[in-house]
Amino acid sequence: MQAKKRFITRIMFAGIICVGLTQCAKDGAEGPAGTNGTNGVDANAISAADQAAYNAANGLKGGLAYNEFYISETDFPQPADTMITNNPDFFRCASCHGMDLLGSNGAAIADVPTASAPTVSSINLNTYAASHNIKQVYDAVKHTGGRLRKPISYNSFTSLNSNMPDYGLIMSDGMIWNIVKYLKEKAVNTDKLYDLTTSGTYPGGTATFTNFGKDGIAAKGIIYYNANCTTAGCHNSTGSIPSSTETVGGILRSEPYAAYHLIKFGFPGTAMINLPFQLTTMPDTTLQNLYKAISDTTAFPN
Ligand code: HEC
Repeated sequence: MQAKKRFITRIMFAGIICVGLTQCAKDGAEGPAGTNGTNGVDANAISAADQAAYNAANGLKGGLAYNEFYISETDFPQPADTMITNNPDFFRCASCHGMDLLGSNGAAIADVPTASAPTVSSINLNTYAASHNIKQVYDAVKHTGGRLRKPISYNSFTSLNSNMPDYGLIMSDGMIWNIVKYLKEKAVNTDKLYDLTTSGTYPGGTATFTNFGKDGIAAKGIIYYNANCTTAGCHNSTGSIPSSTETVGGILRSEPYAAYHLIKFGFPGTAMINLPFQLTTMPDTTLQNLYKAISDTTAFPN
């Protein structure tokens, strides 16, 4: 998404300052491969191998991969193909499905496709994941040998247009299971974090965000923030961002659809990745408390 990219460039260099906080995610080898469906047929039956692969998967790593799968922290082999790293928005799940998983009916209603940004899908991945089993979601991501999708129109990566790439040709099965687990269990329904109002239609519609944190408790959010976000000089108590004139409050209020994801799953390219609170599952209530606290423009000014 365009806004996400602005966000990244703004605070990319925070990583240099806070590098002491990072640590490697250690969760062992990926699980077994599972089985893949037959071309053109929905494969509904979950095999024992599928279930074992799902059980072994890491949904938090899957969340990171939903945003940027081609970095080493997701287990993607390095160096990543430059076709992907030079054209990331044609490959990132988030650029076609939204950081809020709501596609063109969510915050991404405001996006406009360009030569470097694809058309956003109209599918709601929250409801898709809730209404399909692990095998169906797996086959939807791993097309190879599985469900046929739109015709392949670009060499082995099948993207650089707005069609969904064939991730069976790009990712390991273990990475795909991580993403399935993310979609099934770890993804956040942003309705819990703020009210979204849209006007107009995609592309170039308008998204408005209000009621941050919903019934979260601001005082608890402040305590959590001071204990976890201000260490090692990363942010100060009013939400400064190292080497940037932007603030935590300003970004959270203008890009709430991306901020929660970066808090919970990590922010590739900065120190905000693999922090202790990203290696365990942050409850939705903690995000609500943080949103409630940080939405306060006096405590967290722009
Ligand atoms: C370049 C754009 C693009 C990217 C990148 C992309 N998708 Fe999609 N995706 C689509 C489009 C378009 C559709 C719906 C149309 C279709 O069936 O092809 C879709 C459909 C889906 C569906 C629903 C399948 C169904 O049968 O309805 C799932 C699940 C999904 N995508 C997950 C993902 C995940 C996970 C990633 C990242 C690993 C991803 N997508 C990356 C464009 C993309």
